[in-house]
Amino acid sequence: MSLPKIMTVYGTRPEAIKVAPVIAELQRDSRFESVAVSTGQHREMLDQVNQMFGITPKYDLGLMKPGQTLNEIVSRALTGLDEIIEREHPDVIISQGDTSTAMTAALAGFHRGVKIVHLEAGLRTGNIFSPFPEEANRRVIGQVTSLHLAPTSGSLENLRRENFRSKDIVVTGNTVIDSLLKATTWDIQFEDERLAAMADTDQRLVLVTTHRRENLDDMTEIGSAIQELAEKYPNTIFALPLHLNPLVRNAVLPKVDQLNNVIITNPLPYDQFTKLMNRASVVVTDSGGVQEEAPALGKPVLVMRENTERPEAVAAGTVKLVGTDRQRIVSETSLLLDVPAAYDAMANAVNPYGDGRAAHRSVAAIADLTGVGERVPDFAPLVEGEHKQEFAVGQPVERSRSDLVSP
Ligand code: UD1
Ligand code: UDP
Repeated sequence: MSLPKIMTVYGTRPEAIKVAPVIAELQRDSRFESVAVSTGQHREMLDQVNQMFGITPKYDLGLMKPGQTLNEIVSRALTGLDEIIEREHPDVIISQGDTSTAMTAALAGFHRGVKIVHLEAGLRTGNIFSPFPEEANRRVIGQVTSLHLAPTSGSLENLRRENFRSKDIVVTGNTVIDSLLKATTWDIQFEDERLAAMADTDQRLVLVTTHRRENLDDMTEIGSAIQELAEKYPNTIFALPLHLNPLVRNAVLPKVDQLNNVIITNPLPYDQFTKLMNRASVVVTDSGGVQEEAPALGKPVLVMRENTERPEAVAAGTVKLVGTDRQRIVSETSLLLDVPAAYDAMANAVNPYGDGRAAHRSVAAIADLTGVGERVPDFAPLVEGEHKQEFAVGQPVERSRSDLVSP
């Protein structure tokens, strides 16, 4: 009898970081045949991660084209994936998260009668336009999914509220923490000379990342906020590993590229980035993955968004939503840099997103789905009524650390 064939589809940097532990686990497991497929929605930023985790996809659609529209990405991915599905006949397709690649992989598989497993299922802001188009992508993927791998009990509750069957949902933790825990064991040096020089000093470091599509109109405002902060705190280093999207770079760079205490780099390889995150005092970001990682490292995170689908670290007090208003970014960052009590209140190492065994739980659930094994216990005890609200900028949040920190 042939082994169940599991096709993992990914295409962007964060997907690669989050599927890497699952692909590794599947490849080690003799009960499965594993095929990794990249759409190549990202190029340099994806290749960095593939290289780091030693993943060589069997297929790469090479979709990355500067400035292409969402519909171009989706239509090219749909056609390309359809041909691969026809050739490979997978039993299961794993789609991770909420990108164009993830939504298209789920749809392409569904059209071909393949069972869809959604890794990182059930994240919701409740606002279909925010993040755009990711919230819509998640909901579409959910509709065609056979097995929802929810990272937290909060995401499980979101799915239950949408009437998905409890028996189709498993709480796994987020595989981003599997990768992060691995990365923290790597002994590496910064390749960038300015980062290497900074690492050995006791200079304060603020790490900034930005790329969200719905923030593109506000990128100049974000750049101005960094400029103002860098001028206000000349002894603090501001590090910006900039996304390769020209719309991000063109708006942010002119504001900051002449400032001595701003270190601008290209996207950093994952090992360098996690080291930088660990070295930072404060993280300012609109990234999803960074919102999950930085709290695990005990870093206060200011999120330049109006809402989040990751409320757990907000509830734990380590993440605060500040939006994209220049003055608000400056005042909230200044508070953390100036007031030790404010800093200490946020600098809590919390790990609501995982314990490093999310890939193991995910593969066990896939074994159950395909009839070759059994599930293992869920990531965290489920507490009814936890994390139900949408967390928005300025909205007070309940602080309930004790029941959020993983056991
Ligand atoms: C995509 C995802 C977003 C995710 C982000 C992670 C969608 C709709 N969006 O957004 O959910 O948070 O990836 O970073 O799927 N580029 C390069 N080289 C690269 C990657 C990007 O040059 O390796 C440039 C290209 O000009 C490209 C642009 O960045 O057109 C935007 O890339 P795209 O994948 O369309 O969107 P992201 O903003 O990266
Ligand atoms: N990351 C990286 N290099 C960088 C910036 C981020 O390796 O220069 C990693 C980061 O650790 C996290 C992921 O990329 O795991 C987040 O990707 P991104 O912010 O692009 O996407 P999102 O998580 O918002 O979808």
